[in-house]
Amino acid sequence: MQLENFSFFLPEIMLESIIEKYNVPVPRYTSYPPANYFTELSAGEYVDAVKESNTLGDSKLSFYFHIPFCKQLCRYCACNSYAMRKTEVVNDYIKALHKEMDLVFPLLNKDRKTSQIHYGGGTPTILDAEILKELNNHIINNFPLTENPEIAIECHPGFLTLNDWEKLCNAGFTRFSIGIQDFNLKVLETVARKPSQENISDIFKVLRDNGKRINLDFLFGLPYQTPESFLNTIEKAVELAPDRLVLFSYAHVPWLKKAQLYLEKAGLPEKNVKEEMFEKASQFLISAGYVRIGMDHFVKPDDELFEALKEGKLHRNFQGYCTRRTTAQVYAFGVTGISQLEAGYAQNTKDIEEYLSIISKDELPIKKGLLLSKNQQTVRRIIDTLMCNYSVTLSDEDKKEVNFDTQKLLEMQEDGIITFDGNTIKLVHESSPFVRNVAALLDPLMINTTKSFSKPI
Ligand SMILES: C[S@@+](CC[C@H](N)C(=O)[O-])C[C@H]1O[C@@H](n2cnc3c(N)ncnc32)[C@H](O)[C@@H]1O
Ligand code: SF4
Repeated sequence: MQLENFSFFLPEIMLESIIEKYNVPVPRYTSYPPANYFTELSAGEYVDAVKESNTLGDSKLSFYFHIPFCKQLCRYCACNSYAMRKTEVVNDYIKALHKEMDLVFPLLNKDRKTSQIHYGGGTPTILDAEILKELNNHIINNFPLTENPEIAIECHPGFLTLNDWEKLCNAGFTRFSIGIQDFNLKVLETVARKPSQENISDIFKVLRDNGKRINLDFLFGLPYQTPESFLNTIEKAVELAPDRLVLFSYAHVPWLKKAQLYLEKAGLPEKNVKEEMFEKASQFLISAGYVRIGMDHFVKPDDELFEALKEGKLHRNFQGYCTRRTTAQVYAFGVTGISQLEAGYAQNTKDIEEYLSIISKDELPIKKGLLLSKNQQTVRRIIDTLMCNYSVTLSDEDKKEVNFDTQKLLEMQEDGIITFDGNTIKLVHESSPFVRNVAALLDPLMINTTKSFSKPI
C-alpha cells in the first residue's frame, strides 16, 4: 500500500484555543516535498536519476510492486485498487512487471544489494504464489540480497486456504501483513469484506512454523464498531501475539471513493466515539506490552523499529516505517508506483491500459515526479527525522537551509507544542497531529504557498 497516514489524536489536556490556532491547512509530509508538488517528469529524466542513484545516497536497493487488483472491493477502501479484471489482463500485467524490471535493472550497478522488497495493492495475494516467487526471483537473480532482507507482502485472508499460506511461505517472503480490519462479522458484512477463510490461529501456526514475521492491520471508525467491540477485536488479536499491529483510522473521502457513501448511510461513529475506540485499543495494547511507533503502529519492545526510534534513526518510505538496515532507495514497478531516489521521486501512470501499452513499446511508464535540489534534499532529511522520531537537532549548516524562524518556534514552545533550545526541536506530545505544523515551519516551500492542504485534525 502506498497510502497516506490518516490518523490524528489529540492530547486531552490541550486547550481549545490552541487546537483552533494550529488546526490550519498544512502538508501531511508523507514525503518531502509533498506529492502535490509533483509535476510532469519524463522517462528520460527518471532514467538519469536511476543511473545517478548508483553513486548518490544509500547503495542498498528497495523494490516495490503494486498489484492493483482485488477479488471484491471493500466499501471503505481508499487504496489504488480495481475489481479483478479478466485473467488475460492480469497475465499481461505480470508480464509487464517483468519487462519493467528488464528496463530498469541494466541501469543499476550489479553489486548493489537488495534489502527490501514490498508488495502492496490492491491485493498482491490474488496472484498465485508461484507467480510471486518468479517476481522475487527476477530480483534475486539480478542483485545479491543483504544478510537479513525484508520481503513483505500485504495479504487479504478472505481468499486464502492454509495450503495457499503454506505456498506463500515458500515464495521467499519474510513478513506477512494480514488485513484483518475487524473480527466482528457484522462490521465486515457492512463494508463488503470477506472474513478470513481459515482460523487466524491456524494461519499463524503455518506462518510461525515457517519462521515468518506477522503484522496485522485493523481499521476503526466503521459502521457498527463501538469502543467495546473494537477493543474485543484487539484483545483477540493480542492473544495471537503478532509482531506488529497497525490501527488505521478510517479515512472518509467519498468525493474520491463513491462506495464509501454506503457507509455514511449505514452510520459512521461520531468523532469522539472514534477517538475512544483508538484510546481504549491503544491503552490495551500498551498494557499488553506493545510500544507505539508514530501515530498508529504498535510493536513488541524488541522490534527493530522501536530500537531505531530510541536511537532517533527511524525512517519512513511510502511502504511504511523502516530502519537503516531495511531502508534504501526505492524502485517501484506497476501502476501508481512511486520510486523514491536520492535525487527525487517518479510516479508511474495510474491507468492499467496505458501502463500496459507504454511497457509494450519498451518504454518506462513514468507520468510525474520531482527532482530535488540540494536544499530540498537537506530539508527532506530534517523533516523526515522530525516526523518519524518526534525530534530533530539542527546543525548550523541545516539552519541556513531550512525556513528557520526562531520567533515562531519559541511561540510553539509557549503554546506547549514543542520544546526548543536553539538547536533541538522536540515534540511535547509524541503523537501530536501538530507535528505537521512544526515541519511546515521548517519548510521553505511554505513561504507564500498557493497550494491547498488538509487540516491536521
Ligand atoms: C492495500 S490494503 C491491504 C491488503 C489487502 N488488499 C487487504 O485488504 O487486506 C492496505 C490497508 O489499507 C487500509 N485502508 C484501506 N482503506 C482505508 C481507508 N479508507 N482509511 C484508512 N485505511 C484504509 C486497510 O486497513 C488495509 O489493510
Ligand atoms: S482493502 Fe484491500 S481488498 Fe479491500 S478493496 Fe482495498 S485493497 Fe482491495
